[in-house]
Amino acid sequence: MNDSGYPLGFLYWLHMLATLTWLGMQAALVLWVLPLGKRYLPSEEKTAFVSRTLKQVMPWEWFSALVLLATGMFQMSANPYYGGFLAISNRWAYAILGKHIVYGLMLTVNGTLSMVFLPRLERAALLLQHGRPAPDAPAAARRTGQLLWLNLGMGVLVLALTALARAA
Ligand code: HEM
Repeated sequence: MNDSGYPLGFLYWLHMLATLTWLGMQAALVLWVLPLGKRYLPSEEKTAFVSRTLKQVMPWEWFSALVLLATGMFQMSANPYYGGFLAISNRWAYAILGKHIVYGLMLTVNGTLSMVFLPRLERAALLLQHGRPAPDAPAAARRTGQLLWLNLGMGVLVLALTALARAA
Protein backbone atom coordinates (compact mmCIF):
# COMPACT_ATOMS: atom_id res chain seq x y z
CA MET A 1 0.00 0.00 0.00
CA ASN A 2 2.72 2.51 0.87
CA ASP A 3 6.33 2.52 2.04
CA SER A 4 5.40 2.45 5.75
CA GLY A 5 4.40 -1.25 5.42
CA TYR A 6 5.34 -2.52 8.84
CA PRO A 7 3.51 0.02 11.06
CA LEU A 8 0.42 -0.37 8.86
CA GLY A 9 0.71 -4.13 9.16
CA PHE A 10 0.92 -3.74 12.91
CA LEU A 11 -2.17 -1.49 12.89
CA TYR A 12 -4.12 -4.04 10.86
CA TRP A 13 -3.08 -6.72 13.35
CA LEU A 14 -4.36 -4.57 16.25
CA HIS A 15 -7.55 -3.81 14.28
CA MET A 16 -8.24 -7.52 13.75
CA LEU A 17 -7.39 -8.39 17.38
CA ALA A 18 -9.87 -5.74 18.55
CA THR A 19 -12.45 -7.16 16.13
CA LEU A 20 -11.88 -10.65 17.54
CA THR A 21 -12.20 -9.37 21.11
CA TRP A 22 -15.32 -7.24 20.66
CA LEU A 23 -17.32 -9.43 18.32
CA GLY A 24 -15.91 -12.65 19.82
CA MET A 25 -17.05 -11.67 23.32
CA GLN A 26 -20.47 -10.62 22.04
CA ALA A 27 -20.89 -13.96 20.26
CA ALA A 28 -19.70 -15.99 23.28
CA LEU A 29 -22.09 -14.11 25.58
CA VAL A 30 -25.27 -14.53 23.55
CA LEU A 31 -24.54 -17.97 22.04
CA TRP A 32 -23.48 -19.88 25.15
CA VAL A 33 -22.51 -18.00 28.33
CA LEU A 34 -25.89 -16.34 29.04
CA PRO A 35 -28.04 -19.23 27.70
CA LEU A 36 -26.13 -21.73 29.90
CA GLY A 37 -26.52 -19.45 32.94
CA LYS A 38 -30.24 -19.09 32.21
CA ARG A 39 -30.62 -22.88 31.86
CA TYR A 40 -28.56 -24.24 34.70
CA LEU A 41 -28.45 -21.57 37.47
CA PRO A 42 -31.09 -21.38 40.23
CA SER A 43 -33.41 -18.40 39.60
CA GLU A 44 -32.11 -16.37 42.54
CA GLU A 45 -28.56 -16.45 41.07
CA LYS A 46 -29.39 -15.61 37.44
CA THR A 47 -29.52 -11.82 37.81
CA ALA A 48 -26.23 -11.68 39.72
CA PHE A 49 -24.64 -13.89 37.02
CA VAL A 50 -25.80 -11.63 34.16
CA SER A 51 -24.70 -8.44 35.93
CA ARG A 52 -21.28 -9.84 36.92
CA THR A 53 -20.72 -11.22 33.41
CA LEU A 54 -21.61 -7.86 31.84
CA LYS A 55 -19.38 -6.02 34.35
CA GLN A 56 -16.50 -8.35 33.39
CA VAL A 57 -16.98 -7.95 29.64
CA MET A 58 -17.80 -4.23 29.18
CA PRO A 59 -14.28 -2.81 29.86
CA TRP A 60 -12.88 -5.16 27.19
CA GLU A 61 -15.59 -4.04 24.74
CA TRP A 62 -14.90 -0.34 25.33
CA PHE A 63 -11.13 -0.90 25.00
CA SER A 64 -11.62 -2.81 21.73
CA ALA A 65 -13.95 -0.13 20.37
CA LEU A 66 -11.30 2.52 21.07
CA VAL A 67 -8.52 0.45 19.46
CA LEU A 68 -10.74 -0.04 16.38
CA LEU A 69 -11.34 3.69 16.10
CA ALA A 70 -7.68 4.66 16.55
CA THR A 71 -6.26 2.01 14.18
CA GLY A 72 -9.15 2.48 11.73
CA MET A 73 -8.36 6.19 11.36
CA PHE A 74 -4.78 5.39 10.37
CA GLN A 75 -5.83 2.60 8.03
CA MET A 76 -8.30 4.97 6.41
CA SER A 77 -5.77 7.75 5.84
CA ALA A 78 -3.31 5.20 4.36
CA ASN A 79 -5.84 3.87 1.84
CA PRO A 80 -5.47 5.10 -1.80
CA TYR A 81 -9.26 5.41 -2.06
CA TYR A 82 -9.32 7.88 0.81
CA GLY A 83 -10.12 11.32 -0.57
CA GLY A 84 -10.18 13.32 2.66
CA PHE A 85 -12.74 14.05 5.37
CA LEU A 86 -16.27 13.37 4.10
CA ALA A 87 -15.02 13.07 0.51
CA ILE A 88 -17.48 10.28 -0.42
CA SER A 89 -16.91 9.69 -4.11
CA ASN A 90 -16.30 5.96 -4.53
CA ARG A 91 -17.65 2.58 -3.39
CA TRP A 92 -14.88 2.20 -0.81
CA ALA A 93 -15.79 5.54 0.79
CA TYR A 94 -19.50 4.67 0.89
CA ALA A 95 -18.73 1.33 2.52
CA ILE A 96 -16.45 2.93 5.12
CA LEU A 97 -19.05 5.68 5.79
CA GLY A 98 -21.69 2.99 6.36
CA LYS A 99 -19.24 1.25 8.67
CA HIS A 100 -18.77 4.44 10.71
CA ILE A 101 -22.54 4.89 11.09
CA VAL A 102 -23.04 1.31 12.29
CA TYR A 103 -19.98 1.62 14.56
CA GLY A 104 -21.58 4.73 16.11
CA LEU A 105 -24.81 2.81 16.72
CA MET A 106 -22.80 -0.02 18.34
CA LEU A 107 -21.20 2.50 20.71
CA THR A 108 -24.69 3.80 21.59
CA VAL A 109 -25.84 0.28 22.46
CA ASN A 110 -22.66 -0.25 24.50
CA GLY A 111 -23.31 3.00 26.36
CA THR A 112 -26.90 1.95 27.11
CA LEU A 113 -25.70 -1.44 28.42
CA SER A 114 -23.01 0.16 30.59
CA MET A 115 -24.95 3.12 31.94
CA VAL A 116 -28.58 1.91 32.03
CA PHE A 117 -28.85 -1.87 32.15
CA LEU A 118 -25.76 -2.79 34.17
CA PRO A 119 -26.82 -0.52 37.11
CA ARG A 120 -30.39 -1.90 36.86
CA LEU A 121 -29.09 -5.49 36.98
CA GLU A 122 -26.70 -4.73 39.85
CA ARG A 123 -29.49 -3.11 41.86
CA ALA A 124 -31.80 -6.08 41.25
CA ALA A 125 -29.04 -8.57 42.15
CA LEU A 126 -28.38 -6.70 45.40
CA LEU A 127 -32.07 -6.76 46.35
CA LEU A 128 -32.30 -10.50 45.62
CA GLN A 129 -29.11 -11.12 47.59
CA HIS A 130 -30.81 -9.53 50.64
CA GLY A 131 -33.95 -11.60 50.16
CA ARG A 132 -35.92 -8.60 48.85
CA PRO A 133 -38.16 -8.79 45.74
CA ALA A 134 -36.66 -7.36 42.51
CA PRO A 135 -39.58 -7.05 40.05
CA ASP A 136 -37.31 -5.31 37.49
CA ALA A 137 -34.83 -8.23 37.24
CA PRO A 138 -36.47 -10.34 34.45
CA ALA A 139 -37.13 -7.31 32.20
CA ALA A 140 -33.60 -5.93 32.72
CA ALA A 141 -32.02 -9.32 31.90
CA ARG A 142 -34.25 -9.82 28.86
CA ARG A 143 -33.52 -6.32 27.46
CA THR A 144 -29.78 -6.83 28.07
CA GLY A 145 -29.87 -10.05 26.04
CA GLN A 146 -31.74 -8.29 23.21
CA LEU A 147 -29.20 -5.43 23.11
CA LEU A 148 -26.28 -7.87 23.05
CA TRP A 149 -27.89 -9.69 20.09
CA LEU A 150 -28.47 -6.32 18.36
CA ASN A 151 -24.80 -5.38 18.81
CA LEU A 152 -23.65 -8.74 17.48
CA GLY A 153 -25.89 -8.31 14.42
CA MET A 154 -24.46 -4.82 13.82
CA GLY A 155 -20.92 -6.22 14.22
CA VAL A 156 -21.68 -8.72 11.46
CA LEU A 157 -22.97 -5.84 9.31
CA VAL A 158 -19.71 -3.92 9.94
CA LEU A 159 -17.75 -6.94 8.68
CA ALA A 160 -19.96 -7.07 5.57
CA LEU A 161 -19.31 -3.36 4.91
CA THR A 162 -15.58 -3.97 5.45
CA ALA A 163 -15.67 -6.77 2.88
CA LEU A 164 -17.38 -4.38 0.43
CA ALA A 165 -14.63 -1.82 1.06
CA ARG A 166 -11.97 -4.47 0.52
CA ALA A 167 -13.57 -5.49 -2.77
CA ALA A 168 -13.84 -1.91 -4.04
C1 HEM B 1 -17.03 -2.84 15.10
C2 HEM B 1 -16.08 -2.12 14.59
C3 HEM B 1 -15.12 -2.59 13.52
C4 HEM B 1 -14.84 -3.85 13.06
C5 HEM B 1 -15.46 -5.16 13.52
C6 HEM B 1 -13.83 -3.72 12.02
C7 HEM B 1 -13.28 -4.79 11.33
C8 HEM B 1 -12.34 -4.66 10.32
C9 HEM B 1 -11.62 -5.76 9.70
C10 HEM B 1 -11.79 -7.23 10.07
C11 HEM B 1 -10.80 -5.23 8.76
C12 HEM B 1 -9.76 -5.95 7.90
C13 HEM B 1 -10.29 -6.30 6.59
C14 HEM B 1 -9.19 -6.95 5.73
O1 HEM B 1 -8.07 -6.47 5.73
O2 HEM B 1 -9.53 -7.90 5.07
C15 HEM B 1 -11.01 -3.81 8.75
C16 HEM B 1 -10.41 -2.95 7.88
C17 HEM B 1 -10.57 -1.60 7.95
N1 HEM B 1 -11.22 -0.89 8.94
FE1 HEM B 1 -12.33 -1.65 10.42
N2 HEM B 1 -13.51 -2.41 11.86
C18 HEM B 1 -14.27 -1.68 12.76
C19 HEM B 1 -14.26 -0.33 12.97
C20 HEM B 1 -13.57 0.54 12.17
C21 HEM B 1 -13.57 1.97 12.34
C22 HEM B 1 -14.31 2.71 13.46
C23 HEM B 1 -12.81 2.48 11.32
C24 HEM B 1 -12.45 3.90 11.01
C25 HEM B 1 -12.34 4.83 11.86
C26 HEM B 1 -12.35 1.36 10.51
C27 HEM B 1 -11.59 1.48 9.37
C28 HEM B 1 -11.10 0.43 8.65
C29 HEM B 1 -10.32 0.58 7.41
C30 HEM B 1 -9.97 1.89 6.73
C31 HEM B 1 -10.00 -0.69 6.98
C32 HEM B 1 -9.23 -1.09 5.70
C33 HEM B 1 -10.26 -1.33 4.61
C34 HEM B 1 -9.56 -1.61 3.29
O3 HEM B 1 -8.46 -2.15 3.31
O4 HEM B 1 -10.13 -1.29 2.27
N3 HEM B 1 -12.81 0.20 11.07
N4 HEM B 1 -11.93 -3.49 9.74
